[in-house]
Amino acid sequence: MAVKKDLSITYLGVRCENPFFLSSSPVGGNYDMVAKCFEAGWGGVFFKTVGIFVADECSPRFDNTGKEGLPWIGFKNMEQISDKPTEQNFEYLYRLKRDYPDKVVVASIMGSSVSEWAKLAKMCDQAGVDLIEGNFSCPQMTSHAMGSDVGSDPALVEKYTRAVVKATKIPFIAKMTPNITKMEPPARAAARGGAKGVSAINTLKSITHIDLDHLTALPVVNGKSSISGYSGAAVRPVALRFVANLCADDFLRRRGVEVSGIGGIETWRDALEFLLLGCRNLQVTTAVMQYGYRIVEDMAGGLSHWMDERGHRGLEDFIGGALANIIPAEELDRSFRILPAFHNRKCVGCGRCYVSCYDGAHQAIGWDARRRRPVLDEDKCVGCHLCLNVCPVAGCITPGAVRWKGRAKKSAPAVQEHYD
Ligand SMILES: Cc1cc2nc3c(=O)[nH]c(=O)nc-3n(C[C@H](O)[C@H](O)[C@H](O)COP(=O)(O)O)c2cc1C
Ligand code: SF4
Ligand code: SF4
Repeated sequence: MAVKKDLSITYLGVRCENPFFLSSSPVGGNYDMVAKCFEAGWGGVFFKTVGIFVADECSPRFDNTGKEGLPWIGFKNMEQISDKPTEQNFEYLYRLKRDYPDKVVVASIMGSSVSEWAKLAKMCDQAGVDLIEGNFSCPQMTSHAMGSDVGSDPALVEKYTRAVVKATKIPFIAKMTPNITKMEPPARAAARGGAKGVSAINTLKSITHIDLDHLTALPVVNGKSSISGYSGAAVRPVALRFVANLCADDFLRRRGVEVSGIGGIETWRDALEFLLLGCRNLQVTTAVMQYGYRIVEDMAGGLSHWMDERGHRGLEDFIGGALANIIPAEELDRSFRILPAFHNRKCVGCGRCYVSCYDGAHQAIGWDARRRRPVLDEDKCVGCHLCLNVCPVAGCITPGAVRWKGRAKKSAPAVQEHYD
């Protein structure tokens, strides 16, 4: 039976019916698209980035990576900000807020100077949007005065944030680039400039493929290509890492900076992972480009079921719940190894565990050729669990007996029960 939970939350003081928003991109690039997404159930939209600069785009502009027959594990785009006239975009924003007062309309803006940022902020004011996101992170702008070149320079992030905050009272979110080692410096700079929120991640600079005929990257634009932004499921681990860094940062926490999580969210479970790290808002593009707006129904439904099973009444019950358990490598408990337990009745005899352990781990699995079953050598096994990761049958290899290193013997460690 369908379970409906209250998924509402406030983000930067704005009430949102749920945390699921479109991220800034073509999925929210005009009035009709956003109207349709609102009707499908999204809580809000980060509208396609608007600048004074109007983009002149190349064709084609997309490529994707796959593995073992699955396409779209990662997605590459060479698109910049909106290619529509600035005034037209603000007119869309104005009408969207007027016609959908209960939905949250976020303008995404990008300037190339203090005066442009301030001008765009004033236009947001006039359009009556709820929030403003500053795009400091597009990695393929044709001008180095905009995009990720700005976002990787904390001084510029602070300066432009200050310009927006001076021009309007609408809360400002700084969208971060992942094309840096540490995200805290630009995020803190945004907070010093007056940003109330940070969002992460924008796309990762990438080359997805080399075209073997034209000897250039894909997509091929008249024989050439460019390094440009990568998104989708493949970037989610990178996004989660950056989001965890931001949510755990003391400076940002003291200032009450709220994090919006973006990057590879496709399912309710993906969304939940960002919430468990501390995000109060979630944004999606690539999965919508692939599957359409209706994925929000599965996100809301799946999250409601999970909450129901756990007895959670609202999102506040569990936001940030996983953060304290992500600790530095030097603090991990290294006093034991957990052997794999093989459940022979489930085994299909494919031999993948044997091959992987022999060629890629510690040669701790022998092979019973007659029965076509793995045989564990406990002394050689280091408990790395490569075999659990490669076994194609769910529940066939599980975490088994605990072996303590040396004399150390403690209470039983918490064990991951299944890999999914
Ligand atoms: C085709 C395309 C266009 C995008 N345009 C913008 C943009 O105008 N402004 C922006 O801030 N981010 C833009 N992005 C980045 C997304 O908003 C998002 O940060 C990124 O794709 C990661 O999320 P995802 O994995 O859900 O797509 C774009 C992404 C794609 C795929
Ligand atoms: S846990 Fe690692 S070392 Fe042990 S059997 Fe599996 S792959 Fe081999
Ligand atoms: S990988 Fe799994 S199914 Fe294949 S032989 Fe090993 S235990 Fe059996």
